[in-house]
Amino acid sequence: YGTNNAQAVRVDSPLSVPSDTVDIDWDTIGFGLVNTDYMYTSKCALGGSFSKGELVPFGNIEINPSAGVLNYGQGLFEGLKAYRTEDGNILLFRPEENATRMTMGAERMCMPAPSIDQFVQAVKATVLANERWIPPPGKGSLYIRPLLIGSGSVLGLAPAPEYTFLIYVSPVGNYFKEGLSPINLIIETEMHRATPGGTGGVKTIGNYAAVLKAQGAAKARGYSDVLYLDSVHKNYLEEVSSCNIFVVKGNTISTPDIKGTILPGITRKSIIDVARDQGFQVEERAVTVDELLDADEVFCTGTAVVVSPVGSITYLGKRVTYGSDGVGLVSQKLYSTLTSLQMGLTDDKMGWTVKL
Ligand code: COI
Repeated sequence: YGTNNAQAVRVDSPLSVPSDTVDIDWDTIGFGLVNTDYMYTSKCALGGSFSKGELVPFGNIEINPSAGVLNYGQGLFEGLKAYRTEDGNILLFRPEENATRMTMGAERMCMPAPSIDQFVQAVKATVLANERWIPPPGKGSLYIRPLLIGSGSVLGLAPAPEYTFLIYVSPVGNYFKEGLSPINLIIETEMHRATPGGTGGVKTIGNYAAVLKAQGAAKARGYSDVLYLDSVHKNYLEEVSSCNIFVVKGNTISTPDIKGTILPGITRKSIIDVARDQGFQVEERAVTVDELLDADEVFCTGTAVVVSPVGSITYLGKRVTYGSDGVGLVSQKLYSTLTSLQMGLTDDKMGWTVKL
């Protein structure tokens, strides 16, 4: 494994960070990869600990065709964001939470994980090395994508003998092409994202390949994405391909509980706390399709999607709409509270932001 003629730079050495402005139209940026300046890599032998790591120019990596990640899907990813504030600071949102989730996922996937401290320091170093790619305040964020992959060669089924922890970044805007407008979801009744005892509760790469077929079919029919049901009863909500789901009825906000088949989202957890702080009753429990169809408002949460209001749900050919094509009041309020905090516009009384 190596990088293409990359001139490696130690994380603790002075980097030559380009300062020329980048040629991007910040008003039209969506959620697609923009090549940036540097990425971070560190390696670890099975049973060993991760090397200090280095920042190298962003680019292709070389990997043996028999690497564990390519053959047997031994891999995890994370997602978090850095925001530029009006007063010139850079804020990360709860990076230790991503580090902790990676540790939990690594345990499930038989991989060693970097320490929480190494993860957070590496994220900080990667963001600083790519500072010029952080969008101006209010124009988006720098999406940070940590990867943990079995990079060593295996042929028989076994944990890879070597692992690579890599972080790259890309400036992003809105995830859905609808922007901040409500999205239209269809409930998938044949295929499932996860099963009890499987890996649905960790951020392993295969969970995301598994949703592409239903997602593609839904998009071809004009829907924004797919909502999955539990694989046993086919009656309880799980999650959307790339985000968690919340259902609002009166002053109560319900969301599926974490029981191994849905991703423990960091935005999900944060929204639960923000909503409780604002006086809503929040319930983490099994939520039925009937409750969803009978809701006042529905919204999705995730690092990439932030808080995305749902305008309609289609289930077995029947379409239910929410609100009068506007964004629901609860979704709007939670979105503003969370993003104001993430962007440094309000006092962070939760202590969730980390200043670089
Ligand atoms: C994120 O929200 O950060 C994710 O990892 C979801 C991904 C499918 C974009």
